[in-house]
Amino acid sequence: MPVCHFIGIFAAENVENAPQRPRNGTNSRMERTLVLLKPSTVQRALIGEIISRFEKKGLRIAGMKMMQLNDQILEEHYAHLVKKPFFPSLKASMMKTPVVAMCLEGVDAIAVVRYITGYTNGRKADAGTIRGDYCMSNQQNIVHASDSPEAAIAELARFFKPEEIYDLGTLNMDRLYAVDEA
Ligand code: TYD
Repeated sequence: MPVCHFIGIFAAENVENAPQRPRNGTNSRMERTLVLLKPSTVQRALIGEIISRFEKKGLRIAGMKMMQLNDQILEEHYAHLVKKPFFPSLKASMMKTPVVAMCLEGVDAIAVVRYITGYTNGRKADAGTIRGDYCMSNQQNIVHASDSPEAAIAELARFFKPEEIYDLGTLNMDRLYAVDEA
């Protein structure tokens, strides 16, 4: 996805009372987003390292589990790509091992996670982004991250049952944000 799309995300993410929002806190910019650690991450033993990047940034982990994906969930998840010539290899690559599904939360979390994930193709992604630092591929690109508030709602519902996403309350909030920020 082109970098200019990230700017659109910053402009478009202020959706009031969206279901992906954590219940704690009153700030309408608190968001939840879906991240998948792809099979290439699992195969390369990078799970801990990539989770650590998100934790160190200050994103809170509200849900996390391993899942073996199948045709049905991948055809829904990548519905916008099913007609692309690379779809069969994308689908096969996403079923090679279980993935790690994560629900991350924070102020502006959807855009922040996309920003630190970086450009789709790891060879073009900026150094310092996850894809820029950990991969050489357009497909084996370490993580999936929701690209809009609408996608975050649909994707969290696709990968998590409601009871698998936890209310973290005010945990760490006073260290992560100013009082008028979160
Ligand atoms: P896309 O939604 O365009 O990118 P992003 O993951 O950055 O939101 O594409 C989804 C996935 O499809 C991408 O992570 C890897 C795969 N893909 C390919 O295998 N080949 C391609 O040429 C593209 C554009 C994507």
